Amino acid sequence: MDVLLDVNIVLDLCAPRIPWHYQAQQAIVHAMQQGRRVWLYSGSVQTMIYTLQREIQRFRPQVSLRVAMQLALLTLDEFSQDKHWLSTLSTEGLGVFATDDPEDEQLIRAMDRFPANEMCLLTRDQKLLGKTTRAMTPEQFLALNIKPRSTDFLDLKTPHIELRPQLEGAFDQVLNSGWFILGKEAEAFEHEFAAYCEAEHCVGVGNGLDALHLILRAYDIGPGDEVIVPANTYIATWLAVSYAGATPVPVEPDERTYNIDPSLIEATITPQTKAIIPVHLYGQPADMDPINAIAASHGLKVIEDAAQSHGARYKGRRVGSLGDAAGFSFYPGKNLGALGDGGAVVTNNSELAEKVRILRNYGSQMKYHNEVKGFNSRLDELQAAFLRVKLRHLDEWNARRQQAANVYISQLTDADLTLPFVPDWAEPVWHLFVVRHPQRDALQKRLQQAGIGTMIHYPIPPQLQPAYAELGFSEGAFPLTEAIHREVLSLPMGPHLGGGINPAIAAIQQAL
Ligand SMILES: Cc1ncc(COP(=O)(O)O)c(C=O)c1O
Repeated sequence: MDVLLDVNIVLDLCAPRIPWHYQAQQAIVHAMQQGRRVWLYSGSVQTMIYTLQREIQRFRPQVSLRVAMQLALLTLDEFSQDKHWLSTLSTEGLGVFATDDPEDEQLIRAMDRFPANEMCLLTRDQKLLGKTTRAMTPEQFLALNIKPRSTDFLDLKTPHIELRPQLEGAFDQVLNSGWFILGKEAEAFEHEFAAYCEAEHCVGVGNGLDALHLILRAYDIGPGDEVIVPANTYIATWLAVSYAGATPVPVEPDERTYNIDPSLIEATITPQTKAIIPVHLYGQPADMDPINAIAASHGLKVIEDAAQSHGARYKGRRVGSLGDAAGFSFYPGKNLGALGDGGAVVTNNSELAEKVRILRNYGSQMKYHNEVKGFNSRLDELQAAFLRVKLRHLDEWNARRQQAANVYISQLTDADLTLPFVPDWAEPVWHLFVVRHPQRDALQKRLQQAGIGTMIHYPIPPQLQPAYAELGFSEGAFPLTEAIHREVLSLPMGPHLGGGINPAIAAIQQAL
């Protein structure tokens, strides 16, 4: 449970007012040690400054008002460094003057945005203690003896709270602009993301599946054509090929990296083959040099499926610029995720970028003039604005994933598990941390009982899905892919993990 500090608790801590200081300090240290956040209410900032300045003058009557004010500001600035600011939404101001204490009323309304079991208010004010059941003294909070969160597989709430002020700013900017589709935010994001990928062009689209589909359309790949895809991938890679009207032709993975095995590609090439889509699965780049060499010798396009690998490098080069074009997904759980759906096409080919720009917008460059039958698949302004904020933190968040992966690898080297293999030319970004074990289901169950969330990526390969029954693949056709699907388990991974990785490792060691 997070704690919101009322002004009187801020004074206990900053003044410091003995003896209350110690209990308040103990309460917030306990909250922070359990991975909970400590919040300050921004609507009370003037009251905090005023009361702290008065408190300073009470202890040091010789200090002038100006100096006391400066000391109060400095103290609060220092105190708030590791805290979060809770602000008021515009609706929360409605009707507050009809209540006996507008500031308290607004604070309660702001806190009520969070579920009751996620945030409480620490206060010594009897009036507030009587007004809401969520208010308690530091002593009452300590008596609750809150426990650390269980290690969630994925947590999309905690890391976004870190960015709340910037995300709120992005929302305001778009709201105030009154422009929601194909505007300045999308354009700026396209420039910034192309630069990040060390590529020339980026075109924002509605999602990752559309990104791949629109690339295929722009290359005029369609009915009668074949596209080589990994057997071991998420079904979206295949669906993009099917959307275009072409046929996906699966290839088994490399046993160690789980990515498409380049040595098996050539045997599947026919006169109908038009492209290869290597997937940088789980955040690990596919072995692109041999794939590009095969494609060059047969006149095929190489389209990277980079949905899971924002920021990964292959031989020092960023994914997204390694083939003819790349499709990215900004689904919320991705390394760079929007607060909704989003995607992008990245390429060094200006003609292709232009074609995708037209295709994503009804086949039109000029309003109401349609050159081709296009689609409606645009990255909207709001998602672009959020993505611009998050792109600035992508490297740091990827570094946190790398740190978690390092801990897993070093602590689990001797465990009876197949750990991820990283070739020396790869710099993965650990979208997922995937281990392999013959008794995967039993292991998953034991970890679940220990409060450790895991997932399976993926339980059924595309060729065995009813959706692809028409291709006529039966069980046993892709034995390695099938074995991987039976045995892989994704451990908790993400920028939220921090120290939370230790309970996961202890539980795994115990479960094996
Ligand atoms: C490998 C892969 N390709 C493509 C996609 C499609 O992305 P989106 O969900 O944004 O359509 C995903 C999404 O999960 C994916 O994992």
